[in-house]
Amino acid sequence: MITRRTVLIAVAATTATLFASTALAQDKHTIKIVTQSPLSGPQSVIGEGIMMGAQLAVAEFGKEAGDLGYQIVLQPEDDQATPNVGVANANRILNDAAVLGVVAHYNSGVAIPSSEVYAKDNLVMVSPAATNPTLTEQESTRAIANRICGRDDIQGPAGANFAAETLKAKKVYIINDKSAYGSGIAQTFEEAMKKNGAEILLSTGVDQNETDFSSILNRARIDKPDLVYYGGTYPQGGLIIKQMRQKGLQASFLGGDGLDSGDLQKIAGSEAMTGVYFTTTALPLSQMKEAGPFVDTYKAKFSKDPEVYSVYGYDSAHVIIAAITAAVKAKNGEMPTRAEVASAVRQTNFKGVTGPISFTKKGDVATAKYVVIEAAKSADANKIVKVLEVAAPDV
Ligand code: ALA
Repeated sequence: MITRRTVLIAVAATTATLFASTALAQDKHTIKIVTQSPLSGPQSVIGEGIMMGAQLAVAEFGKEAGDLGYQIVLQPEDDQATPNVGVANANRILNDAAVLGVVAHYNSGVAIPSSEVYAKDNLVMVSPAATNPTLTEQESTRAIANRICGRDDIQGPAGANFAAETLKAKKVYIINDKSAYGSGIAQTFEEAMKKNGAEILLSTGVDQNETDFSSILNRARIDKPDLVYYGGTYPQGGLIIKQMRQKGLQASFLGGDGLDSGDLQKIAGSEAMTGVYFTTTALPLSQMKEAGPFVDTYKAKFSKDPEVYSVYGYDSAHVIIAAITAAVKAKNGEMPTRAEVASAVRQTNFKGVTGPISFTKKGDVATAKYVVIEAAKSADANKIVKVLEVAAPDV
């Protein structure tokens, strides 16, 4: 007669065998791509958009790897737009051997320190949106850090040229959010504005959780700048615009791609948007010739419109999936190493939805778009003031 104890042991043994074979199957067949972006907190609209774009890419482009015996799965991680959180996640991700690529990050301030962690084991990252030049300028992360968007040493001066030539700005206030992105783009803007002969009446940083800008804006009522430039992201930028208009300040407002979210107007209020402009490295979706099917599938799957950086999440994931697939083929079906995937990413040469994608030796996309947007206009196409295509600097 079988005792209860024997049955339990038998069940335990079967479960153990099952777990062992599942682990084996996973080791052999599962390849993970991680997204790291803000999924909670004020920047989560963009972060989720990037993650959902990557999800679509895995569903669409994972099939070929599937035929080769590998299931590509997406693992979304929340970096909370916070450097320490991104770095802690990066350390955990690095220890999971199934992870062969990372679509990350939205914020340069998170991307730069996290890239140093990924580099420890050649784990490749492709950023959809991190524009601070340092990301691709560091020797220590040279093999693994890539981006498919532009750079702020081009975006900042492009904004300054627009401010000087079109807005005719001569007296300028510059505010930044003290992040790597915000302070960096504000600095490149300021340097270019000075070269353009403008007078910088104020250049100051504010904490990222600051929500009351009275002291700066009260001073602006006296100084009467003709332009307020902001280096930072849309949650805080929207509040500054709102408070400027509440105080009767009608100066033009300009910022960088951190403002490029459908939520900017929701936060500032549509009545505050006259005279609001931003530069971005993302062409509006309606202007991307190949974006139609992406937009349709995105809306059908998630029941919402994509954020402009969603398609950059999609293309970033596509780059990684294509590199993994090529690396598996190059090894006749064997699991590639992280270094092999990183090197395959650098060989990328295809037409993404966002445009042609190939990388320089530094990991910048060879040619990026820089767009000036007039935020108050209603239809996407009408918002575009100017589009520049600029080759990445290389060595
Ligand atoms: N481009 C912005 C950054 O780099 C979003 O942080």
